[in-house]
Amino acid sequence: APGAQQFIPPQADTLDELRVAAAGCRGCELYRDASQTVFGRGDARARVVFVGEQPGDMEDQKGLPFVGPAGRLLRRAVDDAGLDPGHIYLTNAVKHFRFELRGKRRIHQTPDRVHITACRPWLVAEFAQLRPEIVVVLGATAAKALLGPTFRVTRQRGELLPWPASAQHPEDFQRVPVDSEGTVADAPPARLLATIHPSAVLRADDQDKAYEGLVGDLTVAARALA
Ligand code: URA
Ligand code: SF4
Repeated sequence: APGAQQFIPPQADTLDELRVAAAGCRGCELYRDASQTVFGRGDARARVVFVGEQPGDMEDQKGLPFVGPAGRLLRRAVDDAGLDPGHIYLTNAVKHFRFELRGKRRIHQTPDRVHITACRPWLVAEFAQLRPEIVVVLGATAAKALLGPTFRVTRQRGELLPWPASAQHPEDFQRVPVDSEGTVADAPPARLLATIHPSAVLRADDQDKAYEGLVGDLTVAARALA
């Protein structure tokens, strides 16, 4: 698979330009069966960016990330943690819905490493525009995209981590940010915080406990920005 890089306009300097280009991405085979590309959305000046796995069935139909049950739960957790849900940006490691047809039902399938790798250039391009202070990694797929295959969310959740040397392409994220005048902006380097995926909260035996855990992790991000 060729990957997404060739579909990214090299001169893009807004998220909208990226979104338009991403609509035509054919960087892996997932575009074929899904309805549309689901790009990130939210505040272009967000200090916190959330990275999920991939769009679900509802997101695929609406063309927007986190509009289903997991998204509702995530926004509530963001609010309960003391972050402003109006000032965040939400995106996914993989931007097309991967599913398996069972009769008429579309059953979610976890993306493979090839899809994560193929789609990562979009995530890098979003980060380059957003220059977030904190990137919240939601669950194992996002962790694979940003922290490599050996990272374990269950072991290292809720900790603010420096941008990791173990990330597969750390250089992508360390581009010196320059403004339109070519001046180097003094944006703080992003830190990373891993936590469980909101869908995992919905699947948990003890949902209240899992939810409290998610809120607790997000509170660490809220405090760091305060
Ligand atoms: N789960 C995700 O990881 N992303 C979405 O956009 C929706 C559900
Ligand atoms: Fe492109 Fe990502 Fe969609 Fe694959 S999943 S076609 S790389 S946008």
